[in-house]
Amino acid sequence: MHDIVQDYYGRQLQHTGDLKTSACCDISEIPAWLKPLLARIHPEVLSRYYGCGLVCPPLLEGCRVLDLGCGSGRDVYALAQLVGPTGEVVGVDMTDEQLAVAERHKAFHADAFGFSNVRFLHGYIERLDELGLEPGSFDVIVSNCVVNLSPDKDAVLRGVQRLLKDGGEFYFSDVYADRRVPDAVRNDPVLYGECLGGALYWNDFLRLAHRQGFIDPRLLEDRPLAITDPELVPRVGNVRFFSATYRLFKLSTLETACEDYGQAVIYRGSIPAHPDRFPLDKHHDIQSGKVFSVCGNTWRMLQDTRFAPHFDFIGDFNRHFGIFEGCGSGLPFDNENNITSSACC
Ligand SMILES: C[S@@+](CC[C@H](N)C(=O)[O-])C[C@H]1O[C@@H](n2cnc3c(N)ncnc32)[C@H](O)[C@@H]1O
Repeated sequence: MHDIVQDYYGRQLQHTGDLKTSACCDISEIPAWLKPLLARIHPEVLSRYYGCGLVCPPLLEGCRVLDLGCGSGRDVYALAQLVGPTGEVVGVDMTDEQLAVAERHKAFHADAFGFSNVRFLHGYIERLDELGLEPGSFDVIVSNCVVNLSPDKDAVLRGVQRLLKDGGEFYFSDVYADRRVPDAVRNDPVLYGECLGGALYWNDFLRLAHRQGFIDPRLLEDRPLAITDPELVPRVGNVRFFSATYRLFKLSTLETACEDYGQAVIYRGSIPAHPDRFPLDKHHDIQSGKVFSVCGNTWRMLQDTRFAPHFDFIGDFNRHFGIFEGCGSGLPFDNENNITSSACC
């Protein structure tokens, strides 16, 4: 699988427009605050962007961030601006041609930003322990459309657990399927390279996350993917694919269900670029200044992480009121027919 993927991203694809699905995000979906950051990135880096979502969470100043499967480095260079001169961003990728583009423009970006805070490492995301990175040393780990390509996803998440600080998060976009992908789809090299063949059935992903100690994965955004190459459509059959962004917090105290302790938080409106609301995830759009009821897990995701100084906390864990209302377990993705075949960003 590694050889197929290296050949696909190293030699077959030359730029974003060569992709055969709508996996890349629509330019109109890029938030206004991110556009000036992307505008400072070298055109060759941008032209080889193959991501399927946005992996720039808020509050990164001074953070150490790791990007798994960084490719030509678009997200690394965007994150470099967000962490600033006191932070660091490390990108890992296994494909020489992709890393060569990222490395080639290091000086250009140092010049544009006024500081140099990025490193690129050649390596495999299943074998992060071989890269000499200190365990528990990253505040945030990101990845954009890469985990699906890995033949050993358990090893990837195990490595992420090891490298994250307590209270840190894995914030990543990837492709998921509405069912287990049949062998014919999995073994098709083009479908695999296009991030479809190796996509996990969403419920198997949740099991995998649990297995590796990420007890309460939070879905941020999702959208259905369109396959834009008509030759590929019959090859995927009835499987439907989605691009989705999850955040997985490294918090050993999380419970397997949302439990109600009668707690609430008030968002102070102090996170940069988020004065009115803070979307923790798809189901927690927290308005500033308003008392917002939370389960014990959400409380911990806000109190035991870098978000704590931006909230007031009401309550404690002394009294339990049962399960928190509205914790569903169905298909978590929106299913409306708003598939686009627009150009990639
Ligand atoms: C779909 S591209 C995404 C690249 C980049 N994240 C972006 O948004 O442009 C997948 C990238 O992941 C890298 N990759 C895939 N599997 C990998 C693995 N097991 N270890 C390291 N890199 C991997 C590929 O070399 C390729 O650059």
